[in-house]
Amino acid sequence: MDLPIKRIHHIEFLVGNALQASYFYRKALGFSQIGYLGPETGYPDRASYAVQQGNIRFVFTTPLHHDDPGNVFLLLHGDSVKDICLETGDVDGLYQEIVKRGASPVKAPHTIEDDGGSLRCAAVKTYGDVIHSFVSDYGAGFMPGFNRTRIDEQGVGFKRIDHVVANTQDRQMDRWCDFYKTVFGFHKFVSYDDKDISTEYTALRSTVMANPAKNIKFPINEPAKGRRKSQIQEYIDFNYSAGVQHIALYTDDIVKTVEQLRRNGVNFLSIPKTYYDSVWDRVGDIKEDRKLIEKFNILADRDENGYLLQIFTKPVQDRPTLFLEVIQRAGCESFGKGNFKALFESIELEQKARGNL
Ligand code: FE2
Repeated sequence: MDLPIKRIHHIEFLVGNALQASYFYRKALGFSQIGYLGPETGYPDRASYAVQQGNIRFVFTTPLHHDDPGNVFLLLHGDSVKDICLETGDVDGLYQEIVKRGASPVKAPHTIEDDGGSLRCAAVKTYGDVIHSFVSDYGAGFMPGFNRTRIDEQGVGFKRIDHVVANTQDRQMDRWCDFYKTVFGFHKFVSYDDKDISTEYTALRSTVMANPAKNIKFPINEPAKGRRKSQIQEYIDFNYSAGVQHIALYTDDIVKTVEQLRRNGVNFLSIPKTYYDSVWDRVGDIKEDRKLIEKFNILADRDENGYLLQIFTKPVQDRPTLFLEVIQRAGCESFGKGNFKALFESIELEQKARGNL
């Protein structure tokens, strides 16, 4: 039986300063503010800013009081993803089934409402301290409790979330793949072993889990043995536990998106010039101008169905934990296997500069 999960409704981050974090996502990444929740809207214990671009919605939340349990999360993980919220037509039914299949409950189904209407909400635990909340559709505005104060920004062309990646601890990948299979009804979309993803120094394994409609993709990584510390282990050391490693945002025009992001001050990983010596032999013809792809340091890959273009930001907070990916697909459904080596060598240069390789 397919579970009634429609899509990722939003992703919520717990951060030390939601005012400033949301400003970065607005001014650097082109998200518009669509609502605010806090003491002024009847929630005295926290401040939350909701931002949107295309159909991607992020919420940045800061607890306001010293005794809020959210502070423990911040102490352990720093600014980090707390909730990958899923939209469903039947919160109560979905929660009941998911808990019956073995998920740990966080919040039983309940109603939240304001003058604009109401919705049902529930939540279960997943890897690390991350949760999946479930919400039903709420016609008016973003969520009950949020005012509708809009601050419009010039978007950079992000349309939707392509995938959300988890980093898990040593030998935990299969466990979490099983969790998404047996509890959420996801299937294995593709997997990569340490032969696919290794450099001279470090290695990792990755399996991509997808829902039946394939509009939600969760790659799950674990560190593998190498001569030096895996980048996944560096993440685990700084995030304290498993957590969200990167969120890939889809654009129809990666050249324009990356040009704008660079102008806004977003920092990307740089790839050695030699990468482009061989990439076009491997990828062949693309519609985009190869010179611009090289100028902006964008990576390219191809599978039997088409090609993809992708680029990765540096971490978007001081701990070397969460980063973002910008991706454009032309038929290709893969995750850039041909780029893994170049990408990981580039990450290792950064890891070395931090003294963690
Ligand atoms: Fe990715």
